[in-house]
Amino acid sequence: MQIPFLDYKAVNSPYFAEIEAAMSRVLRSGWYVLGPEVEAFEQEWADYCGSKFCIGISSGLDALILILRAWKEMGKLQEGDEVIVPANTYIASILSITGNRLVPVLVEPDLATYNLDPDRIVAAITDKTRAILPVHLYGQCADMGRINAIAKKHNLLVMEDCAQAHGATCHSKRAGNLGHAAAHSFYPGKNLGAIGEAGAVTTNDPELADIVKALRNYGSHKKYHNLYKGVNNRLHELQAAILRVKLKYLDEDTKKRQQVARWYFDGMEHSEYSMEHGARSMAKSEPHASSPVPHAPCPMPHASSPLNLPTIAPYGSHVFHLFVVRHPERDRIMAELAAKGIQTSIHYPIPPHKQQAYKEWNQLSFPISEMIHEQVFSLPMSPVLTQDEVQAVTQGILEIQS
Ligand SMILES: Cc1ncc(COP(=O)(O)O)c(C=O)c1O
Repeated sequence: MQIPFLDYKAVNSPYFAEIEAAMSRVLRSGWYVLGPEVEAFEQEWADYCGSKFCIGISSGLDALILILRAWKEMGKLQEGDEVIVPANTYIASILSITGNRLVPVLVEPDLATYNLDPDRIVAAITDKTRAILPVHLYGQCADMGRINAIAKKHNLLVMEDCAQAHGATCHSKRAGNLGHAAAHSFYPGKNLGAIGEAGAVTTNDPELADIVKALRNYGSHKKYHNLYKGVNNRLHELQAAILRVKLKYLDEDTKKRQQVARWYFDGMEHSEYSMEHGARSMAKSEPHASSPVPHAPCPMPHASSPLNLPTIAPYGSHVFHLFVVRHPERDRIMAELAAKGIQTSIHYPIPPHKQQAYKEWNQLSFPISEMIHEQVFSLPMSPVLTQDEVQAVTQGILEIQS
């Protein structure tokens, strides 16, 4: 059996007819830029996240950049200010900070959840710290209760990077409504994926919303009247129409992803598991329900050490954008799975501080992040994966020889 890591066409095929109708509607409307589809999607995505405002943007990176840029316009940030960000994030989070001439302060993540570790945030705060950028990596939220408490105490702005966590919750509130502002990516591989580039900003702050809305449109609310030195980062009308179709099915797709995860857990650790209320071991044995408990690692009887499975934090739900596992012999295991026709992927192979683009940081040491980048790999994950396919993956893992 050949099992692709992620098949975009298969993910979209249940919606082909509706997407084609939406595309045709836009084509025939004659309104292609900032029209009724963008406006309707903005309202629907704001409602979904539970936030007051949504501004459609051309990509997730542009959304991150424009929030920071707007805070600069508002006088809340200035060049040289420090922004705390997880050292293991995708490069886009960091690019948005350096692109605004702000200074990223890399902080090691919590090894259990791969998200910002609140205990380490406090140690990283200096006189120049003005913001925290929690990235809800792989499909679950950072510990926003604790992060917001730290931000409040130190008077810091909080910008969520929600690219990988559409619909994930933290203390029953959705990603996108957990800080002062949030950036979303609708890149085709995301849980809510467009058929091209797309993104959004959500916020409850009317002033920020107003400035981001102008910035994305040449700095203008009114044609030929420019308030800011803006950019053209508008969400396409066509993508908005497609996103409106797929948003109707997002919760259903999330349930399918969670079912796939459940099959993985069942196949690899043979134990009862609750997706909505955190790791099953929480309820039974964990004395501090605020700290995540890792799943029992998958034994891998023929390999040198067990496979580390994802941990679900007790404060929220996991929407399984990715199913990320960890093993010291990652490359060998991936190669053996590939030989069995099972495609896996790495998120991510090189940490930002080791990238050529940031060569000034190459000598810095972040041992937890470096270990993560050396050991993680992602198993096939999508709403269209079947139980037989998942079983073939787990069987393949259990058969791997040392
Ligand atoms: C965590 C994270 N932040 C930001 C982005 C950037 O989103 P986009 O690709 O839409 O620019 C991504 C996309 O992969 C991401 O995974």
